[in-house]
Amino acid sequence: MQSYPYIITVSSEKGGVGKTTLATNLAIYLKALDDDLPVTIFSFDNHFTVDRMFEIKGQRTTGTVADFLMETPGRDLVHTGQYGVGYIPSSASLTDLKGSIKGPMVLARLLALSRIPGIIVIDTRPDLDILTQNALFAADRAIIPVKDMPSLENCRNIFALFDQRGLDRKSLSLIPCLVDERIKFDGPFADQKTLLKAYALNRGYRCFDTYISKSPKVESLNTNPDGKIYPILTHAKWTEVHGQFAQLTQTILSEYRATTETRALLFHQWLRTEEERKKEAYFARLSGLKSQCLLCGRPVSGDESEQVSFYFEVSDGSVAGFFEEECFFSLLISSIYNLDIDLSESDPTYLIMRDAARESVFTFRPVTNGNGATVEFNRFGLDGVHQLRKSYPLREFNGGILQKERSRLFTLISETFGERLNVSADTFLLVHPVLREKPESILREENYRGITRLKQRIVQHSAA
Ligand SMILES: Nc1ncnc2c1ncn2[C@@H]1O[C@H](COP(=O)(O)OP(=O)(O)OP(=O)(O)O)[C@@H](O)[C@H]1O
Ligand SMILES: [Mg+2]
Repeated sequence: MQSYPYIITVSSEKGGVGKTTLATNLAIYLKALDDDLPVTIFSFDNHFTVDRMFEIKGQRTTGTVADFLMETPGRDLVHTGQYGVGYIPSSASLTDLKGSIKGPMVLARLLALSRIPGIIVIDTRPDLDILTQNALFAADRAIIPVKDMPSLENCRNIFALFDQRGLDRKSLSLIPCLVDERIKFDGPFADQKTLLKAYALNRGYRCFDTYISKSPKVESLNTNPDGKIYPILTHAKWTEVHGQFAQLTQTILSEYRATTETRALLFHQWLRTEEERKKEAYFARLSGLKSQCLLCGRPVSGDESEQVSFYFEVSDGSVAGFFEEECFFSLLISSIYNLDIDLSESDPTYLIMRDAARESVFTFRPVTNGNGATVEFNRFGLDGVHQLRKSYPLREFNGGILQKERSRLFTLISETFGERLNVSADTFLLVHPVLREKPESILREENYRGITRLKQRIVQHSAA
């Protein structure tokens, strides 16, 4: 069975509240309390504390968190480090990469597909940038260290983010950190931790029962001649902080064991359903296509052998299909540009028109008013910017009935709208260029979204 990690994110917008100390030591205590449990840690900070703490001397590492964000499978990046904790090496180039992280769900997807088992602890930077947002979105348990009122006030933004994303506030827990036991107050809130907890609960925030004291010994663990950072478990075992970490870890382990479905598992299930939905929508669009050209009646299937260049659909979804380049061009030439000539494919006029058409989107709409039945024609850029609007009378025959040459524009409208010769402004026939090698790719979800957006822009344009 595939493994799905349980994610713990340590986050706070405030700097120096003890996030990294908490994240790194928590990983060590988790492993110490349950040796069979795989524990992995990585950090979005560029302090390389994780590396200094977990790197084994002489160990060759490959890849970093930046590679993980750029789709290298997570499992390939985890290195077994000191104290049996796995770690993904830190990166100094995350700032450059931020722009390419599209939305808050990127990390959740990567973690769901990472095949990293057990628990993953994520240390974050002291802000709510896109990486922290991703780490919070993916978290089964988010831990927010607070050391004073300003850091408590700052929690508001994390809670607001959870509300905004529709996430469950229950997965957020505060923990008073760097608590100076020497400070005492008069009245019901006798010390820092009691005061912070009271304020937190008053604002509706959950708190862990435990807290982490400020200890000079703990503070000294990252200042030593060999440049290492030592864990509390091995180098400060006699301090109060050791007992507090052990208690916090027990609480987190029980939460972990009580979790039957991690967010990574649920996210993976959701991804699969989404994939299924996209595939079904794609096949539904594909099977709804007309098998014959509306203009010339020849079979059009979108096969590579054909010269398919345009996709069309009536915006209400009633008719859709492909045009071969030649067919749609002869319509443009005869009925729109009114050129009564037979242009060869190498003619410069033809080439200019073809290049322009490949960069354009066209709409056709039958409108009946005081002037009788007409066709409103519009040309837009591929970005939906309006370029041209014209109206043409809708006549069945060109050049008088005796000549009996049926108008292509009339054929187009009657094949798509039938008897509907006066449709509302949000109903139109859209013609959009496609990749000649792969016309049907326009119907794939990620591309078709562009068509949907374009239709919305066109409707907005006609309403303006
Ligand atoms: N329990 C503690 N007692 C005393 N000092 C501590 C304790 N926890 C952390 N510190 C010290 O406080 C400082 C800040 O801790 P840490 O780096 O863990 O905070 P941080 O929130 O990760 O900071 P940043 O926002 O810069 O990433 C460090 O010097 C650390 O050694
Ligand atoms: Mg830190």
